[in-house]
Amino acid sequence: MEAKKILKKLTLKEKILLLFAADWWSTNKIDRLGIQSVRTSDGPHGLRKEVFENGKKHNQTAVCFPPAVLSACSFDPDLIQKMGQAIACEAIEQGVDIILGPGVNIKRSPLCGRNFEYFSEDPFLAGIIAAAFIKGVQNQGVGTSIKHFAANNQESYRAIISAEIDERTLHEIYFKPFEIAIKQSKPWTVMCSYNKINGVYSSQNKYLLTDILRDFWGYEGVVISDWGAVDDRVQGIKAGLDIEFPYSGKYNFNSVLEAVISGEITPYEIDCCVLRILKLIEKVKSANKSILYDAEQRRNIAKEVAQNSIVLLKNDDNILPFDKNHKLLVIGALAKYPRYQGSGSSKINPYRLESFLDGLNNQKIDYEYLDGYDIKSDEINYDLIAKAVAACKDYKNIVVFAGLPEEYESEGYDRKHMRLPRSQYLLIDELLKVTADFAVVLSCGSPVELDNIINAKAILLQYLTGEAADASIDIIYGKVNPSGKLAETWPIKLEDNPSYQNFTRDNNAAHYKETLFVGHRFYDTFGKPVAFPFGYGLSYTTFELDNFKIKTDNENIYIHLTVKNTGEFDGAEVVQVYVGKPDSAVVRPKKELKAFKKAFLRIGESKEIKFEIPKQSLSFYNTMTKNWTLEGGEYVIYVGTSSTDIVFEHSIKIDGDKFPLPDYIPPKKPILNDDEFARLLGRSLTPRSVQRKRPYDLNSSLKDISKTLIGRILKKALAKELKSQHHNMPAAQETYEAVFELPLRMLAMLSDGLVSKEMMQGIIDIANRKYFTGLKKIMKSRKINKK
Ligand code: BGC
Repeated sequence: MEAKKILKKLTLKEKILLLFAADWWSTNKIDRLGIQSVRTSDGPHGLRKEVFENGKKHNQTAVCFPPAVLSACSFDPDLIQKMGQAIACEAIEQGVDIILGPGVNIKRSPLCGRNFEYFSEDPFLAGIIAAAFIKGVQNQGVGTSIKHFAANNQESYRAIISAEIDERTLHEIYFKPFEIAIKQSKPWTVMCSYNKINGVYSSQNKYLLTDILRDFWGYEGVVISDWGAVDDRVQGIKAGLDIEFPYSGKYNFNSVLEAVISGEITPYEIDCCVLRILKLIEKVKSANKSILYDAEQRRNIAKEVAQNSIVLLKNDDNILPFDKNHKLLVIGALAKYPRYQGSGSSKINPYRLESFLDGLNNQKIDYEYLDGYDIKSDEINYDLIAKAVAACKDYKNIVVFAGLPEEYESEGYDRKHMRLPRSQYLLIDELLKVTADFAVVLSCGSPVELDNIINAKAILLQYLTGEAADASIDIIYGKVNPSGKLAETWPIKLEDNPSYQNFTRDNNAAHYKETLFVGHRFYDTFGKPVAFPFGYGLSYTTFELDNFKIKTDNENIYIHLTVKNTGEFDGAEVVQVYVGKPDSAVVRPKKELKAFKKAFLRIGESKEIKFEIPKQSLSFYNTMTKNWTLEGGEYVIYVGTSSTDIVFEHSIKIDGDKFPLPDYIPPKKPILNDDEFARLLGRSLTPRSVQRKRPYDLNSSLKDISKTLIGRILKKALAKELKSQHHNMPAAQETYEAVFELPLRMLAMLSDGLVSKEMMQGIIDIANRKYFTGLKKIMKSRKINKK
């Protein structure tokens, strides 16, 4: 039956039921009308289907593909599309209708604990790669949920922080990857973020979910909440949030019912959400599903993605690839205990994990292995270092594994620094006293300060490889020529990052005072030296770019050039086009990425590369017209092989629109001061930190109420519960802190029915010294939930 016809047959209660999840992962079904439930699962770089068996939750095995931090470095939408197809096959096999991914939030700071799950600091790259992933999944008849819309750029206080961002920066940086992917690939669902944007929770932000997403971009799909992100369900419906996840008990259901009865929510508002949900269910039902790849093929694709994404950062004297005839010395516990994925909701139970050492064994490569450091402790083990240093003199081929241990970065909390464990720096310092002739293989989910590591002859950045953690072997021996390019800048030190002063652990607001100058836009515009720039990556071969031609018509800019493999290995190069407007009437970064193409070339081969860049894509977001403005005049086109290796630079003239200038144009500088930022926002700044005191409410945290008796009791009970799950947590202390900082409404929602929202309200009343009403609510809540 058609969605509109079903809508007419639904009772009010049935309609409201559809606006809520039935459990942790699925939507509600209505048997009477043949409305089926839709099953979601994490995402994004493989399937994490949680199942209950023998009274316990566990994740079914699935191939763990390289997380976004690595796959984005492929700069290869076709390959990412294939990866999407492969993940969709797992979803079909496991009965999952919607994969909760991809994650396209911008990497504002290297410290964000969840950067490994996001593609890039660059909105264009993130958008294009996400679109390819979505196409791959959805072409197989499985849905996606692009997340977290929007501005979830930190984990600290993610559920209450307000991301304070000026309107133009929102559109050009933080909305852009969503806009590109949504327009190009129409994801079935969009997941809203936990945080507030300019003071309003994303889950009830009409500007975000209706004005921009639906009215401005024309999105027709369903918006779901992040898990526990709903603050006020009634406002959420009015703003366009269709489904709340996970199941939240009767409290929100009843509040919506009351709001409809009282007229606060109109029947039209309810019907808009329900119709979208019915259409989604219809899509799921009628999807043409086909399994293209079996498990082994999927695993091969995971390895292929890793091998085409790993970035060669340095290769002095061409020490790589190694000659297989010499025995290999492997130093570093990460070769044995690989860090291959991140922690949190995306953590996959891998199909077949193979470490670097497993790979060497499988390929029968002769090696000696030494720990070099203790992977489980930050303490320096001088003995392990001494053994590694002593062994060096006997070897020509030496590879040293360094990287971030699991507990250093995870969903739920941010890193406090960009350092590796001290033992690893020391190990490399000591090795360098003996020889620099070694290759460092780096595993991490986000950049680290390299210090002396920069002096090793070769550095191979593998980020997180997914379960094929032996992917780098073929690169080290030259069977695969590295072709990954950095999807983010590697700063020399944390303080160099433009968000440094404003990426903090404040509990109320994050001020995005660097505005548009995120990532390479900042380093490039203001000439700040970096360790490695955006778009950079070496190859074992050399390429020559030539025969540059450019022309324009009314719509597009056409660029032609040839790329030739002039070296001694087959390989791939990524040609990148950046555009700048030096005399712009508004503040702009020096240049921005507008197109890229990856070309594979055999030795001596030459290929023609063509770009067609819509002139409209050079527009800036004009806050006066609330639309994009194409400014006329001179633009500079830069074509190269990284954001700083520019081979051709050429000016063109473009006819533009007539436009009003924004009221206030801030000075062109890396970080605005408070006054400038307030003028840009058009209001006074929200305080970064607040002390949340009595009267407490559902948005207070356990930490806030921990001075009260009931708060202490609750905290103790929760700590006990967390302790029992200790084995699942990478870093107990950080996780505890993050949980204690969650708003109480969210704690209730994530308690899996243990504490309902009305019961939490009762607890809060007691904390507010309203003992009698509090107790009454607790008693009543038990009755309501039984109904
Ligand atoms: C995460 C989402 C995830 C969801 C379900 C949330 O905590 O932010 O990315 O999809 O949990 O596991």
